[in-house]
Amino acid sequence: MFKSIILLTVVAAVPAFGRTVHSVLVFSRHGDRTSKFYKNYQMTNLGAVQCFNSGTYYRNRYVAARASDQIAGISPPDVDHSQLWFSAPDQSVLFQTAQNFAQGLYPPLGSLDEDLATEELANGTSIESPLNGYQCIHIQGEAENAPDTIWLKGDDECPAWTNDSKEYKVSDQYQQTLNSSQGFYDQFVPLLGDILGLENVSYAQAYNVFDLLNTAYVQNASVSEQIVSEDLAEARYLADEWEWNMNFNASNLDRVIGGMSLAGGILRQLEAVVQDEAATKFSLMTGSYDTFLAFFGLVDLASVSTDFMGLPDYASTMAFEVFSEADNASFPTNPEDDLRIRYLFRNGTGSDEELTAYPLFGQEDEAMAYGAFMSSLRDRAITSVSGWCKRCGANADFCLAETSNGTAEQVTATESSGSALSNAAAGGIGAGVTIAVVAILGLALWVFLSKRRKQTWSSMIGEKTRSDSGSSSNVV
Ligand SMILES: *[C@@H]1O[C@H](CO)[C@@H](O)[C@H](O)[C@H]1NC(C)=O
Ligand SMILES: *[C@@H]1O[C@H](CO)[C@@H](O)[C@H](O)[C@H]1NC(C)=O
Ligand SMILES: *[C@@H]1O[C@H](CO)[C@@H](O)[C@H](O)[C@H]1NC(C)=O
Ligand SMILES: *[C@@H]1O[C@H](CO)[C@@H](O)[C@H](O)[C@H]1NC(C)=O
Ligand SMILES: *[C@@H]1O[C@H](CO)[C@@H](O)[C@H](O)[C@H]1NC(C)=O
Ligand SMILES: *[C@@H]1O[C@H](CO)[C@@H](O)[C@H](O)[C@H]1NC(C)=O
Ligand SMILES: *[C@@H]1O[C@H](CO)[C@@H](O)[C@H](O)[C@H]1NC(C)=O
Ligand SMILES: *[C@@H]1O[C@H](CO)[C@@H](O)[C@H](O)[C@H]1NC(C)=O
Ligand SMILES: *[C@@H]1O[C@H](CO)[C@@H](O)[C@H](O)[C@H]1NC(C)=O
Repeated sequence: MFKSIILLTVVAAVPAFGRTVHSVLVFSRHGDRTSKFYKNYQMTNLGAVQCFNSGTYYRNRYVAARASDQIAGISPPDVDHSQLWFSAPDQSVLFQTAQNFAQGLYPPLGSLDEDLATEELANGTSIESPLNGYQCIHIQGEAENAPDTIWLKGDDECPAWTNDSKEYKVSDQYQQTLNSSQGFYDQFVPLLGDILGLENVSYAQAYNVFDLLNTAYVQNASVSEQIVSEDLAEARYLADEWEWNMNFNASNLDRVIGGMSLAGGILRQLEAVVQDEAATKFSLMTGSYDTFLAFFGLVDLASVSTDFMGLPDYASTMAFEVFSEADNASFPTNPEDDLRIRYLFRNGTGSDEELTAYPLFGQEDEAMAYGAFMSSLRDRAITSVSGWCKRCGANADFCLAETSNGTAEQVTATESSGSALSNAAAGGIGAGVTIAVVAILGLALWVFLSKRRKQTWSSMIGEKTRSDSGSSSNVV
């Protein structure tokens, strides 16, 4: 493993010609973890290394002094907090994903530049921060009952999604696969029957079966020798089919709400980046495979390659590059037309796996003008918390605050000030005293309603067959 880390860091970079990257926004899946079938699942050391390697990969491409696509004006060795914006669900695996990625993006300063790593005190003593100059990147954690959680995990606690994905289970397509795959699943009854229940070792639990097999295959020597890799692959294909259909249906967009919400989160952050003329240079969001799949479907990636209908590997990343098509370009004065955006995806962190550009929205070209890109994305996105609440028919506390009488305006203000993604990035631009006061009122109401609604929160949790639709066992 260490060898691969070192290899990654010495890749000599060839600068990109005819392009100036102004900012990059990344959405990442977590690395290897214990099975999410069990409560309190955690990222493994392997998973941490995967996320760290992913951060290193992005460092070598966009941050380091000789990076191939170095972001204009980014600080290569030491973290400049004003240039970075990280947001992750306040939940161990996905928060750690952001942390480990950050460790790779900005490794300990002592390993990069001893002089920068030390500070001199008034009395002349030199001092370095702990762990060889470990660099902290601030990560915003989004609690599961905070409005901004929807941009990262928009299908959680969303009744419309839960209702609609249930429809898959009554479709002919589902019944056929359930029936035709039972012979395949039967072989796992001795291994999984005690864990899942005998009757549950079937396509009805395709993801759980795959997840239990896969985690054991990677982590548990005594079980892994009982699993044939071809069978694991087959279990994966079936889980692909199940999850794709749970998260995408072209004729029923309620099933894609997670992708529409992520699209909204991406829109807000890109708008903030452009508003501050790319003072925000690197943004990271973390989330789950289901959100990846829904987003892939939403932006027509499945028509580019059916590979997008498969579960992305651990620590996969999608990236949005904000750039100009010229060397050493300054930020354009007319971003709508002159700024460009392109979408890239990297499937896992294998050493032969590169970040690759793909065209979105059924277009031919990978790069699009910012204005056209944003309008295509906006057409498909959920762009406000109140919009999400309505679309989902959700009872989340922040939704109740939204629809309560006489408070709608206050909550809207909360939504677009302190807690909004865009403002965090824009350094609080426009957050005036009035909004602050209104926000406090909105927050007070939300806290009040939180208390009042505590019990109903848990009663909203979706069906149990999908252990990831519960509030505490989020999909990861
Ligand atoms: C200098 O100040 C630091 C922090 O107060 C202290 O730990 C250190 O012992 C001081 N060094 C000397 C030489 O006084
Ligand atoms: C979900 O389905 C239930 C039962 O069919 C129904 O009562 C509820 O209104 C639906 N909710 C949404 C948001 O569609
Ligand atoms: C897709 O949605 C349509 C319309 O609601 C429904 O008839 C169809 O069964 C769904 N397909 C799957 C595979 O869920
Ligand atoms: C399910 O498969 C069995 C044979 O494996 C077949 O007899 C039966 O008709 C199938 N049922 C459906 C609903 O396809
Ligand atoms: C099978 O799965 C269902 C749904 O998750 C669960 O309610 C049931 O308890 C499981 N059966 C056994 C024997 O564990
Ligand atoms: C491996 O799996 C077996 C069987 O489920 C279990 O008893 C054992 O504790 C597991 N070992 C580890 C290291 O998780
Ligand atoms: C990512 O890799 C997995 C297999 O590891 C595959 O099933 C999936 O289709 C791949 N996705 C893309 C977009 O290449
Ligand atoms: C861009 O800037 C770099 C560093 O200042 C310089 O070496 C290079 O020649 C410039 N390229 C162009 C095309 O102006
Ligand atoms: C708000 O209050 C008015 C009058 O008190 C009432 O007519 C209206 O239905 C209420 N609206 C909501 C959303 O509760």
